[in-house]
Amino acid sequence: MRMSRYLITRLVAVSAAILFAGLALALWRAQYDVQREERGALEIVRLFEHLYAIENGPAVDVDAHVEALRRINDDGRLRHIQLDLRDAAGTLRVAPRDTEPSGWLERAFAAIAPGMRSVRVDPPGPWTLQRDDDARFVATLSLDPSSEQREALDNLVGMLLVLLGYGAALLLAVYWALRRTLAPLQPIQQAIGRYERDDFGHRLPPLPFAEMDRIGGALNHLAATLSGAQETRRALSLKLVSSQEEERARIARELHDELGQTLTAMRADVAWLSHRTRADAALGDVVTGLAGHCEAFHLQVRDMLRRLRPQGGAMPEGVPLKKLLADLVQSWHDRPGRRAEYSLRYALDDRAVSGDLALALYRLTQEALTNAARHADASRVAVRLDAAADGAIEWCVEDDGIGLDSAEAAHRGHGLAGMRERVWAHGGEIEMGPLASSRAERAGLRIRARFRAPETAHA
Ligand SMILES: Nc1ncnc2c1ncn2[C@@H]1O[C@H](COP(=O)(O)OP(=O)(O)O)[C@@H](O)[C@H]1O
Ligand SMILES: [Mg+2]
Repeated sequence: MRMSRYLITRLVAVSAAILFAGLALALWRAQYDVQREERGALEIVRLFEHLYAIENGPAVDVDAHVEALRRINDDGRLRHIQLDLRDAAGTLRVAPRDTEPSGWLERAFAAIAPGMRSVRVDPPGPWTLQRDDDARFVATLSLDPSSEQREALDNLVGMLLVLLGYGAALLLAVYWALRRTLAPLQPIQQAIGRYERDDFGHRLPPLPFAEMDRIGGALNHLAATLSGAQETRRALSLKLVSSQEEERARIARELHDELGQTLTAMRADVAWLSHRTRADAALGDVVTGLAGHCEAFHLQVRDMLRRLRPQGGAMPEGVPLKKLLADLVQSWHDRPGRRAEYSLRYALDDRAVSGDLALALYRLTQEALTNAARHADASRVAVRLDAAADGAIEWCVEDDGIGLDSAEAAHRGHGLAGMRERVWAHGGEIEMGPLASSRAERAGLRIRARFRAPETAHA
């Protein structure tokens, strides 16, 4: 159903229901008013009946009739007029009621609408009721607008209440209908929030109202497209990273095969030379120096090989990442001229880390340690690997050095950018920030990456 149609039908239904209720109320009220008028007329007839009996009836009944007249006058059923009855001595036998407005509402009403007050024109009279036994009464009728005033006031208050009820019910109906029509905005908002966090796996269910459903459909389509694009980019990144690794492995192989053989041959030649030049001390020194250079060269090549291929090639399943990292950290620790303290805390089960991810973690650590040694001027560098409660792998390297000098430092070289790319390709999240307050002189740097649990991680 369209939203506009839903709103209109609900509002029309509520309006009609309230109008019917108002109509029923007005009908009941009209009936009540007619009956009251009739009763008022009846009382006037009774009034005259008693007046007639006082003038012409037996003397013993006079007091009873006067009492009856007092009741008629006082109980309020007599409408529009009231009676003032005095005897020959001028004693008031039936006193007129007080017609001044009593309650605050009536007083306010009388003040707002002064035209409602009595016209202050009295009907003809007084009449003298002359009995045969010489007793005499004087009856005066005066106009009494109070009952009509009260009726007008009742009608006005009733109308106001109906209007108030109508307004309140309509407001409630509008509120309720709007709430229902706008309710699907909440899942839409939630979905947008998840897409903002790169979570494109979420899909919206069919939504009520054609307009909302169209928006939901468009969002689902958008998410599917973005998710596809993200998959493609991730696959490309992974491919890039793995071809980089292959290239490293190839270089390492060639270094090993070509340089290794040549080096071995050189060392054999130097050994022969040193044997042959034993007699010549000056030549012997040169040959010993040459042997030292060969040895150093060999060590440098081995170091390069180790950095290029941490485990002599791509890392197979079940490789002890812990040992690789321990060796890496140790190699920085053993480096001559070291100033910082390097430490490793490894709290991961090796089997939880796939070969690819293990290699990625190794490369991340390698780059972070190189950066710390090259840029940080730190006194403490810590590497940590932890398993989060949800099974995710948390990697962190932090140093207490000078920290990144500016936000754009992170984009200056290829190292940090490459780390970001690698983490992203493995479906992880990475963040970099200062250890201490960013205003401190030596803020330090903490780089943290988080990879989802292996079974849910991106393949
Ligand atoms: N641990 C660190 N402490 C201080 N500054 C760092 C640290 N790591 C990186 N940086 C800064 O970030 C820049 C970019 O680093 P990177 O991308 O690895 O490139 P490169 O190491 O080749 O300069 C560095 O030039 C350096 O200024
Ligand atoms: Mg670097």
